[in-house]
Amino acid sequence: MNENIVWHNHHVTQEKRAKLKNQKPCILWFTGLSGSGKSTVANVVEELLYQQQKHTYLLDGDNVRHGLNKSLGFSEEDRIENIRRVGEVSKLFCDGGMIVLSAFISPFQADRDIVRNLSRPGEFIEVFVDTPIEVCEQRDPKGLYKKARAGEIKNFTGIDSPYEAPNNPEVHIHNHNITVLEAAQEVIDYLKQHQYI
Ligand code: ADX
Repeated sequence: MNENIVWHNHHVTQEKRAKLKNQKPCILWFTGLSGSGKSTVANVVEELLYQQQKHTYLLDGDNVRHGLNKSLGFSEEDRIENIRRVGEVSKLFCDGGMIVLSAFISPFQADRDIVRNLSRPGEFIEVFVDTPIEVCEQRDPKGLYKKARAGEIKNFTGIDSPYEAPNNPEVHIHNHNITVLEAAQEVIDYLKQHQYI
C-alpha cells in the first residue's frame, strides 16, 4: 500500500444511491462446483429482480475471466487472486447501490470469508448451489469434466483440485431434482424474508 495515497470520502454515499434506487444493496455470492448451476440460477434471480424494478449486476467467472481476469488461470494462487479481485469489484458495485450477483466456484472458504469481511454487516449473502458432483459431471454442459478425466485439463475443481463447501451459507440450494425457477425462488424468498426487497 502506497502511503502517499489518501482515501477520499464521497459526498454521494451508498445510502443516498440506495435510496434513489429504492432498494437495499447486497452481494448474492453464488458458490458451487462447475456445472452446479450457479450462473443459470443467478441469471433467473436477476431476471426476477429486474421484473421488480431492482437494479442489479451479475458477475460470473467465465465472463470476468475473458476481461478483468484474463491473465489468471486455475492454480490455487490464481483462484485466490480471482476471488480477491471479484470480491473488490462486487464491493464497488454494492457501494454503488446495486444488488450484485456474483457467481464463481470460489472453492476456498477463507477467500469467501475475506469477501464477507470486506462487506458491511448483512451485506454478504452466501448462496451455496449444492449439486452432487456426479450430477455436475453427468450434465457437463461445457464438456470440461470429460476433458479433466482425460487429463486434458489440470486442477479441475472436484477432480484434482478441492472444493470446500460453505460452513454456514445464508441460502443452501439443493440444486438437483428442482427447476431453475424453484431454485431462484429460494433466493428471492430469502431476500423478502430478510427485508432486502
Ligand atoms: S474459481 O475457482 O476461480 O472461482 P471461476 O468461477 O472463476 O473459478 O471459473 C470457473 C469456470 O472456468 C468453470 O465454470 C469452467 O467453465 C472454467 N474452467 C476452466 N478450467 C477450469 C478448472 N481447472 N477448474 C474449474 N473450472 C475451470
